[in-house]
Amino acid sequence: MGHERAVVVVGGGVIGLSVAWAVADAGYSVRVVDPTPTRGASWLAGGMLAPVTESWPGEEHVLELGSSSLAAWPDFASRLTAAGGDPGLRLEGTLAVALDSADVGTLDVLAEFLRGLGREAQHRTARELRAMEPGIGPGVRSGLHVPGDLAVDNRALLTALHTACRRSGVEFVTASAREIHPGAVVLADESTVECAVVVLAAGAWSGRLHPALEPLVRPVKGEILRLHGRRGALPVPTRTIRAHVESRPVYLVPRADGELILGATQLEVGFDESVTAGAVRDLLRDAEQVLPGIAEYALTETAAGLRSGSPDNLPLIGEVAPGLLVATGHHRNGLLLAPVTADAVVALLRGEDLPDAVRAADPARFSGRDT
Ligand code: GLY
Repeated sequence: MGHERAVVVVGGGVIGLSVAWAVADAGYSVRVVDPTPTRGASWLAGGMLAPVTESWPGEEHVLELGSSSLAAWPDFASRLTAAGGDPGLRLEGTLAVALDSADVGTLDVLAEFLRGLGREAQHRTARELRAMEPGIGPGVRSGLHVPGDLAVDNRALLTALHTACRRSGVEFVTASAREIHPGAVVLADESTVECAVVVLAAGAWSGRLHPALEPLVRPVKGEILRLHGRRGALPVPTRTIRAHVESRPVYLVPRADGELILGATQLEVGFDESVTAGAVRDLLRDAEQVLPGIAEYALTETAAGLRSGSPDNLPLIGEVAPGLLVATGHHRNGLLLAPVTADAVVALLRGEDLPDAVRAADPARFSGRDT
């Protein structure tokens, strides 16, 4: 295949792999550069596909982009199941619950915002919530039911994408990138991988690899726990349950095999990936208020990952220079936005127009202004 159809994707997380798979299937020759493909921030994600419960007034573009990607998820999941493996899409929906009057107020603001956009969020009393999820604790006062906010098994997803990429002919260069240039990636050992187009999808590390991204992408640490239901303990919930406890967000995302993901802190502490004892204590204490039965579960993993934050919580998807595309800054929404990002990169390579929701994520929106 000619050099003009050679693409190098820097980053083998959910965005890099989704892009690589789509670009390879569109007829390009694709290499992915990553020292440990699949093992970045997305390996540690909760797995929520939740544009509605992640939304907030002022972030309408984020909701619009997330909703368009969520609409693409069922087809993405079934194509992936055929091509690489089942990513464990769960359709049970999400409950956002309130523990005190401040939380009730926060959910009221969210519900009002959603109604203003013509989207329904169904109010539920405490009794109704407990009828849906019997493990919900007595401190929960009310909540919103958002049936359309889904979840996926992040590790099954990454494994399936890795397999699908290899089956579609994607090659993996298991090395760290040191510098990115249009049409070339310099590796840590000073060798260079050349191509027609580089796609920078290195998450929180993107800002270290190209000066244009340096002021735009920052690491946002998230500590996350994995628990497993045990015989004799209350069963793991069937839906994702989210709450704020003393302003700290907490979420509980069930997996099919009795696992429960409990996340997550949100800290601006640079490239620190340590798990602190205080974070584990806070997450467990906060989650116990929502779902007291978790005290009986097995704690199987504690970990920290780095989200790629952007100045306005929209990702950066577009051309930075001829021969250099970026697909990064997905912050809390990398798994959700994988299908729309992959399609956008294929469209950019082909010179096609992007949908409005994706055009809003063009990094050019920051050109010429202070971030
Ligand atoms: N998507 C949830 C988180 O980033 O913690």
